Amino acid sequence: MIQFKKVSKSFGTIKALEEVSFEVGKGEFVYITGPSGAGKTTLLKLILREYQPDSGEIVLEGVDITKLSDEQIPEYRQKIGVVFQDFKVLPERTVRENVEVSLAVIGVAQEAWSARVGQVLKLVGLAERADLFPNQLSGGEIQRVSLARALVVNPKIILADEPTGNLDWETADSMMELFEKINKEGKTIIMATHNKVIVDKFKKRVIKLKGGKNVGKEKVHELEKEPKKEENEKGEGKMKVKVEEV
Ligand SMILES: Nc1ncnc2c1ncn2[C@@H]1O[C@H](COP(=O)(O)OP(=O)(O)O)[C@@H](O)[C@H]1O
Ligand SMILES: [Mg+2]
Repeated sequence: MIQFKKVSKSFGTIKALEEVSFEVGKGEFVYITGPSGAGKTTLLKLILREYQPDSGEIVLEGVDITKLSDEQIPEYRQKIGVVFQDFKVLPERTVRENVEVSLAVIGVAQEAWSARVGQVLKLVGLAERADLFPNQLSGGEIQRVSLARALVVNPKIILADEPTGNLDWETADSMMELFEKINKEGKTIIMATHNKVIVDKFKKRVIKLKGGKNVGKEKVHELEKEPKKEENEKGEGKMKVKVEEV
């Protein structure tokens, strides 16, 4: 469904991604792992066409998305639902209204909103919370609102960037169970995370990034024994390896 072919992306002198290649099949659930600064968010933003690569191809359902024109991008983005760590819900809108915004943005007729929003709120377990405001919800519930907003437009792919990063363990667990349920219903999920506990518990295929490159397991183990502290101190983050990260 998605192929990266030797994709490179730099920001000035920082090589965020270097000749990264991988493939994700339809209906798969994969993790993108790697320490902070490894290029996980950059990779997701490339799929979203928020960034263009410097070189390489990104093929989604047979189309090289790097070649889409600006006019084609809004329609392309409807294939993708996004869930970020910093939930990005609208504080002055109710749960229901937060989800409706997604439908309004893509021009779905208002008559269809109620049924679709109702269905998706039920799926994420928020049917009873529809008329509450974000400040009346727990962190886990707010993260479910952002997932509902992503799902309501019926995307083919869900991109999740550290979606459990701000949640306690119990809440993160139930969020992961929800992602698994959504995956079983047919969505392809690409989740960036450096949470080893999550990766070990909810086993999926792992695409490892290290300083912008795909790496094999052996290499990561080498680095875990000998983290290069001096590079951490420069704040580049690329060689930052903590035991709990993968
Ligand atoms: N918009 C940007 N401008 C400049 N540098 C960036 C930008 N986005 C990411 N980077 C750099 O690219 C590298 C990879 O970042 P990122 O993709 O955010 O990594 P991760 O999500 O794995 O922590 C880092 O060194 C980061 O500082
Ligand atoms: Mg990131």
